[in-house]
Amino acid sequence: MKVTIFGTGYVGLVTGTCLADVGHDVVCVDIDPSKVDGLNNGIVPIFEPGLAPLVKANHEAKRLAFTTDAASAIAHGEVIFIAVGTPSDEDGSADLTHVLKVAATIGTHLARPTVIVNKSTVPVGTADRVHAAVAEQLVQRGVDVEFVVASNPEFLKEGDAVNDCMRPDRIVIGTGSDYAVQQLRRLYAPFNRNHERIVVMDVRSAELTKYAANAMLATKISFMNEIAQIAERVGADVEMVRQGIGSDPRIGWHFIYPGAGYGGSCFPKDVRALANTAKQNGYRAELLESVEAVNERQKSHLFDLIVRHYGSADALRGKAFAVWGLAFKPNTDDMREASSRRLLQQLWDAGAKVRAYDPEAMEEARRIFGDRSDLMLCGDALTAVRGADALIVVTEWKTFRSPDFQKLSLTLGDATVFDGRNLYSPKDLAVHGLGYYSIGRLSHSPSGARPCGSSSHSLHLGPQD
Ligand code: UDX
Repeated sequence: MKVTIFGTGYVGLVTGTCLADVGHDVVCVDIDPSKVDGLNNGIVPIFEPGLAPLVKANHEAKRLAFTTDAASAIAHGEVIFIAVGTPSDEDGSADLTHVLKVAATIGTHLARPTVIVNKSTVPVGTADRVHAAVAEQLVQRGVDVEFVVASNPEFLKEGDAVNDCMRPDRIVIGTGSDYAVQQLRRLYAPFNRNHERIVVMDVRSAELTKYAANAMLATKISFMNEIAQIAERVGADVEMVRQGIGSDPRIGWHFIYPGAGYGGSCFPKDVRALANTAKQNGYRAELLESVEAVNERQKSHLFDLIVRHYGSADALRGKAFAVWGLAFKPNTDDMREASSRRLLQQLWDAGAKVRAYDPEAMEEARRIFGDRSDLMLCGDALTAVRGADALIVVTEWKTFRSPDFQKLSLTLGDATVFDGRNLYSPKDLAVHGLGYYSIGRLSHSPSGARPCGSSSHSLHLGPQD
């Protein structure tokens, strides 16, 4: 089928590439000429495992083209996807400027019956607004072209996006039009083998499904982070609790990992936007507000642990901290809403220096932070640790999983590790004389002599925190 996709961000580029790879004829449109030029020359602007070779192969096979020319792209597509960004507005609601601009552009050029599909994560009711924006242009042009606006949310995870796209666990199609269902069934047939993955529903339910999925996952994480906070105070180990509850199939193993808070382009934005939609419709979504509030607090938790260890924020002045991991999660270079950003700012505000390393996000960090005297971007994990007083792990990249603790113990001035992702066993660090603070577990100071956690041995955690 002939497909057009507006937007070559994560969603648009991955979707377009996967659709091309199963044989569709895909044209991707972007307003950024340098991005389009780059893509036409095989330069993929994002780090996503497996994506670059797939873009190259399909581009060479002439099934995948990139252009800034909206008019010709609109003439090309039987199905036109809108996959442009929906950033958060100041009040947390989704900013639809880009989506509606694309809709108007489509209306300006549309000349034959077409299925327009919202792939961007958009508030309930957006399909209607897109419909109105397209129709307005058609009226202005005095032409009558049939079109449908359907919702087909994406559920891609960064770092695993190609796989998610190639092997979707469900394909949600929201529309009341049989024609649109038929077209989208044809489009997705190659991904819908062996068992039925397509769920057809009305357009508003599809729009809400996307938010509900992300909000549910974010809720699981904030819930676990809350349990971790309680565990620290009562001398329990949240990792044991996790194992104790995950085996219940009603709870499941996924998304119950406590940590330094969730980040990324979706969860923070979508939880806020859904709470906002609820408010605009006369309902206060208290659970969602709490999910967000718990996450905001959790993003400061590593810093709180550091301050407790050193006695005060003032004591951090002049200290140097090695930070492992800047991306919001492993296998991406994306630092949007990453917990590392909050932590670095807090350390700098306290007068500390940072020696940071991330396997993929160094360029992005350079772009975000620029040159500053209190930030050293290091070429590898060991360089980051050299000359540092303590190590802070913020992202759970595989390469950070089994460091040489003996070396760390000898290298780190204060022989202490703050682990925001519970990568290590407290025992292993104690054996090497390293102090260890993690999330929702017993902590111990550098001597390794005294594990703390419950009231009598709670060295660093006060019940008021
Ligand atoms: C998410 C959804 O998973 C995906 O379906 C949707 O389409 C887009 O949003 P993504 O933002 O790429 O995907 O990342 P994800 O793997 O879901 O992780 C989000 C954040 O939650 C990360 O910061 C991660 O570190 C954190 N997380 C995840 C936890 O803290 N604990 C967990 O148990 C799982």
